[in-house]
Amino acid sequence: MPLVSMRQLLDEAAKGGYGVGAFNVNNMEQIQAIMEAARETKSPVIVQASRGARAYTNDKFLYHLMLAATELYPEIPMVLHQDHGNSVETCKSAMAMGFTSVMMDGSLMADGKTPSSFEYNVSVTREVVEAAHAKGITVEGEIGCLGGIEDGHGAGGDALAHLTDPDQAVEFVRLTGVDALAIAIGTSHGAYKFTRKPTGETLKMDRLIEIHRRLPNTHLVMHGSSSVPKELQDIINQYGGKLKPTWGVPIEESQLGIKNGVRKINVDTDSRLAITGAIRKVFFEKPEEFDPRSYLKPAREAMEKVVAQRMTQFGQAGHAGDYTPIPLEEMAKRYR
Ligand code: 13P
Repeated sequence: MPLVSMRQLLDEAAKGGYGVGAFNVNNMEQIQAIMEAARETKSPVIVQASRGARAYTNDKFLYHLMLAATELYPEIPMVLHQDHGNSVETCKSAMAMGFTSVMMDGSLMADGKTPSSFEYNVSVTREVVEAAHAKGITVEGEIGCLGGIEDGHGAGGDALAHLTDPDQAVEFVRLTGVDALAIAIGTSHGAYKFTRKPTGETLKMDRLIEIHRRLPNTHLVMHGSSSVPKELQDIINQYGGKLKPTWGVPIEESQLGIKNGVRKINVDTDSRLAITGAIRKVFFEKPEEFDPRSYLKPAREAMEKVVAQRMTQFGQAGHAGDYTPIPLEEMAKRYR
């Protein structure tokens, strides 16, 4: 099966009332972990690469690994998505490389740090939508700013400082024509999201519900949605790591989001924690080992386990065979 548009995957998820995890990758083992989890759970998948990941891999490698995945897992619909494109150029280079979906994060300026104006955000996002839809490629936009920093990209600081305003969200979707909308509801990238289990004061699910009420036909995206499980933190710390106690987004909150229009849930940190814990364990227990496979294999298995768990929890499990992919040219016609 060729790479498919994210729009098709999310439309199907909306029909079926489930969410789809979007998992970040930087190397072959992470792609393999996601694909094995997808096969095991019969899930459609979104694989995403940040700007940092594209630079780390040289995205030609990444793209060809994804093509290998389409050959090896022909039964799985797969999207290759640019996570947090900082500029029109970044999105255009991803499209030229063969990505089937891009995020134009115009909530920040091109430096990836400074919150932008509404007008700037609309103008760059609109430009990407025009270029992408002409090729049948999907666009995710962001309104409001997430907390934290991911791969050097992010407003940092207080996750409640730039929450999404529902009126602006409605206006933004109307003016840009985005397929999916990332909203800021108090989550942040990375392991340190909340200092205790989040409450309605720190994780604004009521705002998400209000945005969905106002935009019932827009696919919402939750970023910074790793649940940062205590078990994974404990493994890292048991084998010499030094993570401070921290809380992520409880699975039941992501599931509440899915009941209220969330179709894409971004997860990176949980995979990183699983991989690091597995590698630390091998280094600690078998200090004589030096074959990279001795620690990369358990690392891959640990990521596969957490990804398969999320696929089941988000409800995408069992849906890989529900539909045949619509070619990008046909998607382009539909946008016209
Ligand atoms: P986490 O850091 O919670 O995994 O979020 C990842 C993300 O939102 C990628 O855009």
